[in-house]
Amino acid sequence: MKIELGGTEQVNSKYAPLLESFAFKNGVQLKNRMVMAPMTNWSSNPDGTVTDDEVNYYARRSSGVGLVITACTYVTANGKGFHGEFGGDRDELIPSLKRLAAGIKEQGAKAILQIFHGGRQVPPELIPNGDVVSASSIPVEGVGKPVPRELSEQEVESIVRDFGEATRRAIEAGYDGVEIHGANGYLIQQFFSPHSNRREDRWGGSLEKRLTFPLAVVDEVKRVAAEHANGSFIVGYRFSPEEPETPGITMADTLVLIDELAKKELEYLHVSLHDFWSTPKRGVDDSRSRIEIIQERVGDQVPVIGVGSIYTPDDALKAFQTGVPLIALGRELIIDPDWVQKVAEGRETEIITEINKENQQQLVIPDPLWQAISYTWMVSGSSLKKKSSSLTWMNSFTVYIRHYKYFHQNELIRGCLHNQPIDLQFRQQAHKPDGAAQLYEELNHQI
Ligand SMILES: Cc1cc2nc3c(=O)[nH]c(=O)nc-3n(C[C@H](O)[C@H](O)[C@H](O)COP(=O)(O)O)c2cc1C
Repeated sequence: MKIELGGTEQVNSKYAPLLESFAFKNGVQLKNRMVMAPMTNWSSNPDGTVTDDEVNYYARRSSGVGLVITACTYVTANGKGFHGEFGGDRDELIPSLKRLAAGIKEQGAKAILQIFHGGRQVPPELIPNGDVVSASSIPVEGVGKPVPRELSEQEVESIVRDFGEATRRAIEAGYDGVEIHGANGYLIQQFFSPHSNRREDRWGGSLEKRLTFPLAVVDEVKRVAAEHANGSFIVGYRFSPEEPETPGITMADTLVLIDELAKKELEYLHVSLHDFWSTPKRGVDDSRSRIEIIQERVGDQVPVIGVGSIYTPDDALKAFQTGVPLIALGRELIIDPDWVQKVAEGRETEIITEINKENQQQLVIPDPLWQAISYTWMVSGSSLKKKSSSLTWMNSFTVYIRHYKYFHQNELIRGCLHNQPIDLQFRQQAHKPDGAAQLYEELNHQI
């Protein structure tokens, strides 16, 4: 059955749950349940300001979804995690932050700035003096990873304040909220993780003490929001439920984290997953998906955003059955910026799920992001297909392998990457956008 929306639009009533409005506890209304997931696009200027191409890319994707979460922005100079990442670490960047917020909001979505520190995962060449820092001097697993310097207590406190300062800038720049990036192995997660946090002061030790930094960041961000914004400013928190390393974060640890976060009057929790339906590896004796376990634990204390390979409206409908009220789309919106509009207009069968290699201009994708996608095709067309053995993730070039995983549509190859991580060592220059050729050579050489 199709329902008239007004004018000639007709929505298939089956998909109405995707398009229902949603109200956060602070009263802010979203026009529907679909969210744009945070995605780094490598397209900002070297000085940390956003580019026109980047603003246009967001604007093109901001008229369908109810909420857009930006790519991560660094709150401290030594937290910059990516080439072409935009900054939120100093007041002179407020006009740049403002341009992005306006570009999103003018199209009708609420705009959330994702605030971040990369910790031990930052490429040394991107930060002052190559001074890579973390909770402890434990590098990411793999050969050639920089050994981070353990932050002093004073420095930890200073980074907590930096998250607050970035929040103030977000408020001044007109964002509707911030998302604290506590996921994907970056600094906040590094403090929570028993792998990267071996401290014995008040910031580490027991599980409770490893929570100190994430919760201090939440408190500071909330304090600043209360001081500088009205009650309608949104504060969300993103986390990854498990880590592969031993020791590492388990589902049991995550349940403790979310119990604590639920007490903090956050507007939402966002579970970072590549597969919405993935199941726990350790820590709970439960065969249900991670998201179901998390949603059950959180209950109606705080809304949860789910994400991960939700390609079609039917995938989204099924995901809503878990009780999660909001669903984020990442790659799906790169590939089809009109995903939500097509559902709203009853044209859901026209949703595109595989990127058209001829359509960069039409899709309004900045060159660096387009190149990242192109590398993925190159890699997926290479001998990687034929061999799936033996590999572990290596240094900062992991990012290219992630692109590969993100954009390849072939389940077999994606699965093989997920289950048998690939061991590739690249020369430093292959990390840069113009290093595509070297990267390709290296891949063929090593696999
Ligand atoms: C190109 C790209 C960049 C990403 N950058 C970020 C980021 O800056 N912050 C973040 O929390 N997650 C990031 N992610 C993860 C996505 O938010 C999302 O969790 C993931 O893509 C799975 O959702 P999808 O299957 O809908 O793409 C990125 C993903 C992609 C594909």
